[in-house]
Amino acid sequence: MMPAGARSPLQQLIVQFGSSVIVTDPAQLAAVNVDHRKLYEGKALALALPRNTREVSTILAFCNAMCIGVVPQGGNTSYCGGTVPDASGTQLVLSLRRMNAIRSVRPINDSIEVEAGCILADVQRVAAEMDRIFPLSLGAEGSCQIGGNLSTNAGGVNVVRYGMARDLALGLEVVLADGRVLSTLNALRKDNTGYDLKNLFIGAEGTLGVITAANLKLFAAPRSVAAAFVALPTPAAAVALLALLRDRCSNLVSSFELIPKVALELVLHHLPGSRAPLNSPSPWYVLCEITSTMSGEPLAERLEAALSFALESELVTDATLSQSEREREDFWFLRENIPEAQRRDGPSVKHDVSLPLDRLAEFIELAGSWVQTHVPEGFLVCYGHVGDGNLHFNINQSAPAASLLAREGEIRRAIHDRVHEFGGSFSAEHGIGRQKVEELERYAPPLELEIMRAIKRTLDPNGIMNPGKVLRVQSNL
Ligand code: FAD
Ligand code: MLT
Ligand code: ZN
Repeated sequence: MMPAGARSPLQQLIVQFGSSVIVTDPAQLAAVNVDHRKLYEGKALALALPRNTREVSTILAFCNAMCIGVVPQGGNTSYCGGTVPDASGTQLVLSLRRMNAIRSVRPINDSIEVEAGCILADVQRVAAEMDRIFPLSLGAEGSCQIGGNLSTNAGGVNVVRYGMARDLALGLEVVLADGRVLSTLNALRKDNTGYDLKNLFIGAEGTLGVITAANLKLFAAPRSVAAAFVALPTPAAAVALLALLRDRCSNLVSSFELIPKVALELVLHHLPGSRAPLNSPSPWYVLCEITSTMSGEPLAERLEAALSFALESELVTDATLSQSEREREDFWFLRENIPEAQRRDGPSVKHDVSLPLDRLAEFIELAGSWVQTHVPEGFLVCYGHVGDGNLHFNINQSAPAASLLAREGEIRRAIHDRVHEFGGSFSAEHGIGRQKVEELERYAPPLELEIMRAIKRTLDPNGIMNPGKVLRVQSNL
């Protein structure tokens, strides 16, 4: 019991920071209490909107001393409930949305230092102004934040060429659970001074500390680009086409996305203005892109020659190259809007899995026929970043529908067990969050879990950082 007249921890926070930094307005809390798919809902104690690293540090030191859980939230585009507080009303949601400054751009060093609340698309734009690119690219780029991208080790459509968020980070500034600030914010390509600590926080989903800033890699902007929308009979043909393109177009392949007929149909149906790129339907498509930083490169000719060979070899059945930037954007509109079309169509059970490329086609066949037999109320929408072996193996049910989501746990287990048998991963790019904690316990080797828990205990002994996400651990909350 709190002594009469004593201030509650929340009141103390408000007194210290003011009500513009510690927000209790119900409308603002309602927005952060729920994930974007409205699958997870909690109740925050308050929303913290710090303006700088010092304020993040003071807030965390206070929460650590008081054993208050802290839930970092970026753009809130997580698919696994990683950003949502529990229902207790005792956890503080901490958003860096005010910390969105570009601290410096260093073109000669090909690096950019940004605060973690920067929106990904803004960082891409600043890079473009310097005739560079920041190559991380994903459907949520208009709202997700760099802190969220790094905390989930996000992937997206350019991984095949540039790697995941982890590969794009040179250094980080992180506020630890006890408020101390760890800075590895150098802009160096080579730095072998002991353990690479920044990589502990990348992909940690806010369970080890709050990322407040990052030094990111920039790359020369592509000056030549060619994109093609390709029809093929099977996923096996897509995997073979990837090998062919790598062979014929050397290391120019920057995107290679698999799209099933049903996904294209969903987009055409739900997104006004979308148009099928090819005349006749095909069971599968690939959207691929090759790029070069040299201007005037004959990439369209090169891609066309490779695709003609694939046509003659009966690997592909049809293909069209974009004839303009507008047409290239139209291809990407179709791809990027698959999640939105799925959402508009009805509920879905999502699996974000990766497979060794040489087993990917076999997996789709086997797991696909399992879905057909065992989930008659749903239909498979299997698409994704096949260049990285990453499938979004989603099952949809046209609305109105209740039964599919009621079976979510059972379906997920069956799919993930198969992924595991195939030597794959049940979490390729979206993370663990709250949704896949049990999966991690089921599939991760015990030694890995033991080491993860030991790291968590060391960096966050009271267990205040994003409680209940990624790992189940003892806490003092
Ligand atoms: P949030 O969702 O806000 O947070 C994600 C996790 O990071 C949470 O656990 C949160 O606690 C933690 N976190 C956030 N900020 C910080 C911080 N500063 N410090 C510490 N922890 C923090 N993902 C992909 O990888 N590839 C895709 O192609 C892709 N496409 C998508 C398309 C759509 C339409 C949508 C809605 C999502 C997509 N995603 C994709 C998932 C999502 O956008 C990414 O995971 C993204 O990186 C999350 O960023 P965010 O800022 O929204 O983070
Ligand atoms: C994508 O690649 O479109 C996303 O990661 C998957 C999704 O939004 O379901
Ligand atoms: Zn994806």
